[in-house]
Amino acid sequence: MSKKRYLVTAALPYANGPLHIGHLAGAYLPADIFVRYLRLMGKDVVFVCGSDEHGAAITVKARKEETTPRAVVDKYHAMLRDTFQKIGISFDIYHRTTEPIHHQTSQDFFRKLNENQEFLEETTEQYYDETVGQFLADRYIVGTCPVCANPDAYGDQCEKCGSTLSPTDLIHPHSMLSGSVPVKRPTKHWFLRLDQHEAWLREWINTGIADGIQLHNPADWKNHVIGQCNSWLDQGLQPRAMTRDLDWGVDVPQEIPGSEGKKLYVWLDAPIGYISATKQWALDKGKDWEPYWKSDETALVHFIGKDNIVFHCLIFPAILKAHGGFILPENVPANQFLNLEGRKLSTSKNWAVWVHEYCEEFAGQEDVLRFNMIKKMPEQSDSEFTWKGFQETNNNELVNNLANFVNRVLVLSHKYYAGVVPRIEPEITFNSGWETAKTGQYNEELNLLYDKLQEMGAAIERYELREALRILMEISSAGNALLQFNEPWKTVKEAPEMVKVVMNLAIQYVAVLSVAIRPFLPFAADRLRKMLNLNPLQDNGDLLEILNELVEGNPVIPAQHALNEPEHLFSRIPDEVIEKQIAKLAATEQQNQPQSDSSSATSYQPLKEMIQFDDFAKLDLRTGTILTAEKVDKSKKLLKLSVDLGFETRTILSGIAEYFTPEQVVGQQVVIVANLAPRVMMGTESQGMILMAEDAEGKLSFVSPAAAWPNGMGVK
Ligand code: 2FM
Ligand code: ZN
Repeated sequence: MSKKRYLVTAALPYANGPLHIGHLAGAYLPADIFVRYLRLMGKDVVFVCGSDEHGAAITVKARKEETTPRAVVDKYHAMLRDTFQKIGISFDIYHRTTEPIHHQTSQDFFRKLNENQEFLEETTEQYYDETVGQFLADRYIVGTCPVCANPDAYGDQCEKCGSTLSPTDLIHPHSMLSGSVPVKRPTKHWFLRLDQHEAWLREWINTGIADGIQLHNPADWKNHVIGQCNSWLDQGLQPRAMTRDLDWGVDVPQEIPGSEGKKLYVWLDAPIGYISATKQWALDKGKDWEPYWKSDETALVHFIGKDNIVFHCLIFPAILKAHGGFILPENVPANQFLNLEGRKLSTSKNWAVWVHEYCEEFAGQEDVLRFNMIKKMPEQSDSEFTWKGFQETNNNELVNNLANFVNRVLVLSHKYYAGVVPRIEPEITFNSGWETAKTGQYNEELNLLYDKLQEMGAAIERYELREALRILMEISSAGNALLQFNEPWKTVKEAPEMVKVVMNLAIQYVAVLSVAIRPFLPFAADRLRKMLNLNPLQDNGDLLEILNELVEGNPVIPAQHALNEPEHLFSRIPDEVIEKQIAKLAATEQQNQPQSDSSSATSYQPLKEMIQFDDFAKLDLRTGTILTAEKVDKSKKLLKLSVDLGFETRTILSGIAEYFTPEQVVGQQVVIVANLAPRVMMGTESQGMILMAEDAEGKLSFVSPAAAWPNGMGVK
């Protein structure tokens, strides 16, 4: 923590849906803990975030909700802002990328990059949907992910495996708007010369050196972050289009020839949103924004999920460098993904715990979710949230350990000393809470607390928040052990002076905890301060102050201080509450399943009679792609397809209409029996048969090559 000031960012969420626990555990909670800790250490820190309100993520949602992009972003911006506030994410500003200050800032960046000749202006062939008359970039185009075979990957990203994609990477691309297979059409765009930034980015990512200056130590970065960057760098960086043919977004500055109808690529404007948010914060507070982005004495830290790594570690740094005058991030401590009850979180399948719903159903227990998210934080690898685990963590750790300790200390203090912190003889020894049979000495034990807090802080500074929480809970466990090993309820009569020392020390533990839990459990910290009758935290050096006392062996709450009555810091969560949540997820699962008789075990069809190889060799199986699909009049089952076999196009009637809509199958690669005798069905000749896999319930799935394959090829 050697920097003078900190600018901490958390990924700007798209304002197209509510916040779920995966978002929270991925970026917002780790950022909040880090920032709250910095504030407690008296650091100059600004924490910025805001809604990402441009791009296809918004316009596609508007189309789905049959409304305007403006209505979508207004609705979800308000929802996100309120949810963050309720769960205690303490942004200094939660901004919006539709604000004029952001449009100006982004356009200025574009102008500067243009002046610096960082762009190639090129006319290239891009996917175009002829049925709706629109170019298809990013989330307007979907297809199969070339990395993990997820059939619903977007043109810019696969949400299943986190890969960053381009529309041309997709297998079986089709339009999100009409379902049709897009054609390619020429259009002009501005491409950032990422290829020219490759060499310095490689050096900076791997050594922390840029322009010959050691900016950070790469050993401080997470391995998976560096690994993902290198895997991109190893493929060679290509110029990347920074503009789009869209009607929602930041305009390409008008004075630039050819700008008409062109908008900035959302991944150009969104990270600049961190800068415009800082500008707005500075305006509101009467401060100067520039030192936060331009001084070597500032540490810039981006908290993100792993799907945003290349944008924050390669593309945005290239943009900042191309512009000139800006610092580079000191760290990008990206987290991996959080799963829910054994499955990937999915917004479209509603497989999520929505934070706004949690805040309603568990009002007053916001910290319980925070605590669970930290325990399960996917810091190095994917992790999992379960409702049973949530309950156990609450009951065992927050209630039995932390709340129990606080309650015992306050109840006993009221019982023995009428709630007044006792005066003590600090030389009197007792049993330490840190180790069985260790003799405790008051001032030394305060030094030990100092060491623990230092350890906890060091873990936060390394972005190891699970570890930091573990150390914090050790303090509470040691406090419980202090009481357990000295049993004041038994010794208060025979050794009253010793019990005073133990109880005074236990009160110091609680006072230390009232500050140290703040980054993790901010609401509980407030409650605890009230119980202790201490001033609310200022979030400005409070931890530093108590560290300065503890290192000297001084108490942090003086003798004779009057404590308030205890209240419950945390309460047990009963089984019914958890069962209700599990039932809610089960209902979602049910809705996602096609209706079937779940009581029957899988039934297998009996094997058919044995055939010889010659019988099999008579089949001519070929690869093909479905070009068009339509329903057949008066038939529930049949779709009429035209299938491109490379050397010819066939009309095939296929009994798949109950499982697939025409839009879903257009663009699908298939295997067909190409030498099956033609057959007339519903007045149309079918010239082949499409191979389908069928499960026990009769559900169908296409059989197709695992990767994009030319049409008309043989299948053996
Ligand atoms: O992946 C996302 O949700 C993006 N909206 C994150 C943007 S982060 C930043 F660059 F603004
Ligand atoms: Zn994928």
